[in-house]
Amino acid sequence: MKFRLSIRAGLTAFALVAASVAALAQPPVANSKAQLTVQYNKPLHSVSPTLYGLMTEAINHSYDGGLYAELIRDRVFYGREHHSFRKVWTLDQNAANGISLSVNNQTGPSNALPYSLKLTATKASPEDPGGLDNPGYWGVPVWPNTTYHASIYLKSTGAKNPGPVTMAIVNAATGKVMASATFPAADSHWKKYTATMLTGDVAKSYNNFIRITVSHPGSVLMNMVSLFPPTYKNQKDGFRIDLMKKMAAMHPKFLRFPGGNFLEGQTLADWYDWKLTIGPNVDRPTHPSPWGYESSDGMGLLQFLEWCHDLHMQPVLAVYAGYALDHKHIPPGPQLEPYVKDALEEIQYVTGSTSTKWGAVRAKDGHPAPFKLKYVEIGNEDFFDPSHSYSGSHGRFAQFARAIRKAYPKLKLIATMPVKGDVQPDIIDDHFYRTPQQFFKDTHHYDKVSRKGPKIFVGEWATMQGSPTPDFGAALSDAAWMTGLERNSDLVIMASYAPLFVNVNPMAAQWGTNLIGYDSLHSFGAPSYYAQVMFSKYLGNQVVASKLSGVGPLCFESVTRDAATNTLYVKIVNASPKAQPLTLHIEGAEAVGHSGTLVTLEAKSTHATNTITDPDKVVPDTAKVNWYGSDVQHSFAPYSINVLELHVR
Ligand code: AHR
Repeated sequence: MKFRLSIRAGLTAFALVAASVAALAQPPVANSKAQLTVQYNKPLHSVSPTLYGLMTEAINHSYDGGLYAELIRDRVFYGREHHSFRKVWTLDQNAANGISLSVNNQTGPSNALPYSLKLTATKASPEDPGGLDNPGYWGVPVWPNTTYHASIYLKSTGAKNPGPVTMAIVNAATGKVMASATFPAADSHWKKYTATMLTGDVAKSYNNFIRITVSHPGSVLMNMVSLFPPTYKNQKDGFRIDLMKKMAAMHPKFLRFPGGNFLEGQTLADWYDWKLTIGPNVDRPTHPSPWGYESSDGMGLLQFLEWCHDLHMQPVLAVYAGYALDHKHIPPGPQLEPYVKDALEEIQYVTGSTSTKWGAVRAKDGHPAPFKLKYVEIGNEDFFDPSHSYSGSHGRFAQFARAIRKAYPKLKLIATMPVKGDVQPDIIDDHFYRTPQQFFKDTHHYDKVSRKGPKIFVGEWATMQGSPTPDFGAALSDAAWMTGLERNSDLVIMASYAPLFVNVNPMAAQWGTNLIGYDSLHSFGAPSYYAQVMFSKYLGNQVVASKLSGVGPLCFESVTRDAATNTLYVKIVNASPKAQPLTLHIEGAEAVGHSGTLVTLEAKSTHATNTITDPDKVVPDTAKVNWYGSDVQHSFAPYSINVLELHVR
């Protein structure tokens, strides 16, 4: 039976939330020639339940100075050989206390950190303590009445011991101590000391630094100096609460990690050696990220997995495949074999029971239960390899894939480019970094791609407009592109925007356009973030037949339904500066409810954007709507992204 449904904007039948009246209080749209015809009873295919997820790597201080909540920058005095830690750590500028620093390369708290920092005080006293200062990641966040967890590894030098060591958060403008903790005098062997510090009834601020001091003459050795604020679910060594909440709102179904270029490294020596990222922090030597700063690797393999666990995401584990950004590669064959073995062990660390070698290590690291793993990606962007060592029938992909399939036949393998020969991937990872114009023209990219080959994972994509985060023009183009992904989600089974994070301090970012911005205290989502939230939240589970006619070139649609809840999701992107009147004509439904929801993200200009100081300029409005029976007629606002949720059966 043909069913007709009507929304008459501006009529009293609408029950609108106050904030949204403006979005819908438009004159009724009479006889619009533009029409979206939806065949509710004609599902074309399932929507991939894993369509929207996250891609992540150590770029733009995504972890150090981002998600990983550690507040001390360079907690292990990186670059000890060249004393470059002095670019971060500075002497407490109180000359009277006779403070000096030097590096001791003879002793450190672990094999991974076989060196330490020697702090010497010649004249320090309780009235005139002295030591060294750490700026945090462009400030240290302070909240009122909040407990912080501090720790430090200390050892006495054998010479005069300066006694207890104090760590404090100090306000940079006033010099006032916001919170402090004192560790006992160092022992004669390396030992980890822990303490908590509590702020009082202070105002929220981030113009603070961390100061480590002694109050008596003497010298002491230190390393792995750490300070954590409260973390998501109070996890030890955990994640920033605000960023976890922002990601949770995206309803992500998977996390692709650890990169990206971060997986590859700038040179073959800098590959992502996962074994050096597990276990206690003191056993992690750190390594250079290709994005120009040392990675603390506090965000190690287990932390990625726990991140997945906390947000109910599937891991998409990318294993290193023998290629570096300087275009060098490990040749397929015996030289590549140790890396293949390493990938198999990594999969065992993730999935193995505690009776396996690496499953037992994971249990020792604090997580006895194996993680579920379905997807493994082999390498990253190997189409850049000029030698084509990845894609040949006996190439790097084939060597990894054969071994992984033999040991783990149920895993789905992702290649980073098409490959030749018998060993074919289950999925290919496509990447798109584009202008709005390029995406607008290509929203039908996957319409005609063969369904007989591998499935597609759009593992990195973004409209590159706006910095450090995308503007509303980019959000429109992102949304237009997502309508195409959704309509083709029988083929495109996963997609993830990249990069996900940026610390907005100008010294922190390496990439121009990134989804979520933050400083040490605040965070915000770009308009594109809200487009992702809308598309992911109102996904549906079947794509239904739809046909758009009579619209301008910048109007895009996707229609899905959830048959179990009899819900229809109509997504309309109007990227034009003019309103788009549209008649929504629904065929093949037996009945319909008389209310629904319209979620709209709109702006007056494509340059409109959210910033760290104005985070809510472009955010979605939600309007509850009621209607009578006939075609839905609505004028979609200029520059708007819309999801209309209707109950139909
Ligand atoms: O997302 C930023 C980078 O872009 C990724 O590290 C890399 O895979 C791509 O080239």
